[in-house]
Amino acid sequence: MPIKTIKDHFSSNPLKNHFESNVLMEHFKNNSLKNHGIYFFNDNMENGVLNQFYSSSNFEFRRFSWDDLDECTQLFKSVFSADPWYDEWTSLDQARNYLKELIGNPVFEGFIYCENSNIVAVCLGHRRSGWMGNEFFIDEFFVENNKQSEGIGTKTLDLVGKVLFDMGYTRLTLLTNKSIPAESFYLKNGFYTNEKRTVMVKEF
Ligand SMILES: CC(C)(COP(=O)(O)OP(=O)(O)OC[C@H]1O[C@@H](n2cnc3c(N)ncnc32)[C@H](O)[C@@H]1OP(=O)(O)O)[C@@H](O)C(=O)NCCC(=O)NCCS
Repeated sequence: MPIKTIKDHFSSNPLKNHFESNVLMEHFKNNSLKNHGIYFFNDNMENGVLNQFYSSSNFEFRRFSWDDLDECTQLFKSVFSADPWYDEWTSLDQARNYLKELIGNPVFEGFIYCENSNIVAVCLGHRRSGWMGNEFFIDEFFVENNKQSEGIGTKTLDLVGKVLFDMGYTRLTLLTNKSIPAESFYLKNGFYTNEKRTVMVKEF
């Protein structure tokens, strides 16, 4: 790749721009996290992997673990069975199998946002190495029905981005439906639509 293209890519990177303009990042830059009751857990390691990222008296942000599967499945099924998705998961087992497949991906990475020890937001995805840099593809992102539109999705996405950015990831990518609240949510959070891309499906 020519040097100019590399420079253009990094200078126009949506993730970087988003964090640079983001209020939360200002807190990180100003080292004022402790004033807000948020702590970074450097010592919470398992097999060399950091598991808990941020915590305060009212929330916890951590890496997904298999122990979260059942609670995440319940949440996933109730969120996507509701407006505007109306997905028709026939059983909890079917939804659990779907999530198990995502989690079984060797490049899987997941994040959990909890309030009062209950999971209220989930981000499940996978890492991708590409010629444009390390990218994180969000397979599923959801906030508990009763907690939507309260800023939790924005906060979770900020924390996911912060952790991934620190790990050397420069892009977030995802697929979503047009003209639903999720589309405006992502646009508001610094994503743009790649007009050159299309989704293609062949059914048998
Ligand atoms: C989309 C979602 C993740 C956003 O998280 P959230 O915590 O509800 O969103 P936030 O409160 O942080 O952000 C609010 C913004 O998101 C959009 N939004 C979220 N929920 C909305 C709703 N029910 N109606 C209209 N806009 C909504 C709006 O742009 C809103 O901005 P505004 O408050 O200035 O109008 C969450 O609503 C959700 O889980 N929805 C159902 C599952 C889903 O669609 N997931 C994404 C699939 S790719």
